[in-house]
Amino acid sequence: MKTLEINGGKELSGTIRISGAKNSSVALIPAALLADSESTICNVPEITDTDSLCEILEFLGAKISRASESIIIDPTTIENKEIPKELSTKLRASYYFMSALLGKYKSVEMYFPGGCNIGARPIDQTLKSFRALGAIVEEDNNHYKIYADRLKGAHIYLDMPSVGATINALLASVKAEGETVIENAAKEPEVVNLATFLNGMGAKITGAGTSEIRIKGVNKLNGCNTEVIPDRIEAGTYVILGALVGNKLKVDNIIPEHIEMLTLKLKEMGVDMEIGSDYIVTSKTDNLRPVNIKTQGYPGFATDLQQPITALLTQCVGKSTLEETIYENRFQNVPYLQKLGANIEIDNRKIYVTGKTPLTGDRIEATDLRAGACLILAGLKASGKTVVTNVEHVLRGYENIVEKLTEVGADIALNEE
Ligand code: EPU
Repeated sequence: MKTLEINGGKELSGTIRISGAKNSSVALIPAALLADSESTICNVPEITDTDSLCEILEFLGAKISRASESIIIDPTTIENKEIPKELSTKLRASYYFMSALLGKYKSVEMYFPGGCNIGARPIDQTLKSFRALGAIVEEDNNHYKIYADRLKGAHIYLDMPSVGATINALLASVKAEGETVIENAAKEPEVVNLATFLNGMGAKITGAGTSEIRIKGVNKLNGCNTEVIPDRIEAGTYVILGALVGNKLKVDNIIPEHIEMLTLKLKEMGVDMEIGSDYIVTSKTDNLRPVNIKTQGYPGFATDLQQPITALLTQCVGKSTLEETIYENRFQNVPYLQKLGANIEIDNRKIYVTGKTPLTGDRIEATDLRAGACLILAGLKASGKTVVTNVEHVLRGYENIVEKLTEVGADIALNEE
């Protein structure tokens, strides 16, 4: 097990450069197999989730080379074979291979995907999209066999604006015959990033970033060059860190508009903040005001920033309310924050955080990726030593987190127990 040892209470200053977005990269890598020639994806973060997807591509026979932050994928040698369970279950995004392989070869066999344990994560909307396009879905004990003679464009209405289902519907329909319309689509920037990549290959997609996406099917896609957008969740995490312990901590190489809901909340709290064209500088501010937050799909307050911001809410003077509307089990960080000294009540899908409370270091567990990020922030704020266990979860999504934090003055070390 990997652990992080943090000696907290240090003031952090300098610049943290944000990496390419995990949740874009994990869609772009499988998407590359839809092309009939090589693609280059730039600004891909070196995190275990992108490694796991490259492993699946290599298992299928693709040739992959990595040059600094770029990945070159040659899909011409791919063979469509069943993806083994141990590869499918490593991460949620493995199921983008379901749609990419179905879209290209009209058949796919693999298992139910993995991902953080943050509540039920059904894939019914994805399967509904495949069926709408004419595919037959056979499920047996979490094993899926999905196939079609032909895929025909269809009208797909998503019951909720699911990011994963929108991406899967896009990947499965770009080569279908005729027009597909995805209604109630997710509007996340990662969906736009994927549509831009596919259009670069020759796809005909309009409306990505709105709730109605139209896809005119094409016969052939050619590889192209594309770039991953900056990771808005990594950016948001470090901006929150600046508000906790920063002394002009600059978070650079970002698209501030992508985290506007976060910066609006920070302004409401009274955080000392400067927002530039591609950076944000934050500093620790005394007497922060409490706020009410409710998670929502983009452009609302991101569920992935809900846990990180809880660390900051412990430092607001008064009672903040935080409501999680996307996942049913995304408060597993709370008992550990309480262990550090936070005053938090859980009421079903809401928590009430009353501050300001001093935090004192202790041994705490990263139960999932963003819970881990929250606990690292809390450990950096806390006095004394904090040990965060199970940080494998965090390394799935934050590139070079130890190096980046050390660079700005944190006392933090990665250990193996
Ligand atoms: N849902 C269904 N049926 C479906 C799909 C989703 O009921 O077929 C429900 C889910 O159970 C959940 C909600 O809809 O309650 C939203 O799920 P969504 O499909 O949007 O999430 P996702 O695609 O599984 C992606 C990110 C998550 C991020 C959500 C935000 C990736 C690989 N994952 O998940 O990222 O929280 O969108 O909606 O892109 C993370 O990075 O820590 C992370 C969990």
